[in-house]
Amino acid sequence: MLIDIITVHPELLESPFQHSIMKRAQEKGLLEVQVHDLRKFGLGKHQQVDDYQFGGGAGMVMMVEPLANCIEHLQSQRPFDEIIYLTPDGKRFDQKLANRLSLKGNLLLICGHYKGIDERIRQHFVTLEISIGDYVLSGGELPAAVLVDAIGRLIPGVLGDETSALFDSFQDELLAPPVYTRPAEFRGWSVPEILQSGHFQKIEEWRHEQALKRTAERRPDLL
Ligand code: ADE
Repeated sequence: MLIDIITVHPELLESPFQHSIMKRAQEKGLLEVQVHDLRKFGLGKHQQVDDYQFGGGAGMVMMVEPLANCIEHLQSQRPFDEIIYLTPDGKRFDQKLANRLSLKGNLLLICGHYKGIDERIRQHFVTLEISIGDYVLSGGELPAAVLVDAIGRLIPGVLGDETSALFDSFQDELLAPPVYTRPAEFRGWSVPEILQSGHFQKIEEWRHEQALKRTAERRPDLL
C-alpha cells in the first residue's frame, strides 16, 4: 500500500512512521508513506498557501489552487482509491473503516490547517472525509498519523503474528481481555491460574468471558 500525505508541516510527520511496526511495514515493502510539502505548490515568491476567507471572519483558509495543483501532480503519477480529507466534521474513524481502508492500494491524505481548506477541493477532489474524534486539533497531521498506523498494521504480513490483529479490541466489537506476562507472582498479585494451566480451549473461553465482561462494564454501547 502506498499512502501519500499532503501537509504544510512535513516535519510533523517525520517521526511517527520511523519506529516499531510502521518502520517494519515499510522495510518489508508492505507500506510506503510519502509526505509532500504543500508549500512547494504555494503561489508567488512567498509560496502562499492560505488566505483570508470570503465573507470575513477570523482564521485563514487553505487556498484552492496550491492544493488542486498538488493533488493533480500526484494523480498524474498514480490513481488513488480514496482521496481523504482529515476534518472534525468528517465520518468518525473506527476499526471497521480502518479494516476497509487496509484493503486499498493507494490512498491520498490531505491535512488541513487554520480554518480548513477551500470547499471546492472537498467538492471536486475529496472522496472521503474522516474525523478521528469529537475534538478539534490544530491540524490534520496527527489524525493522518493515526490513520496510517491503524490502517498500516492491518495490512497482511505487517504484524509478525498474522492472527494478533484479529484479537485487538474492537476487531470483533469487543474490548480486548486482560493480558499478563512474567513473573506469575509480584507483591502477592498473581496471574489468574487458568492462564498458567496450558489448557488452550479453557484459556480461550476465559478470554472471551473477560472480553464480554470488560465490554459490558466499559462500553455497553458496543454490545
Ligand atoms: N483536524 C482537526 N481536528 C481533527 C479531528 N478531530 N479529526 C480529523 N482531522 C482533524
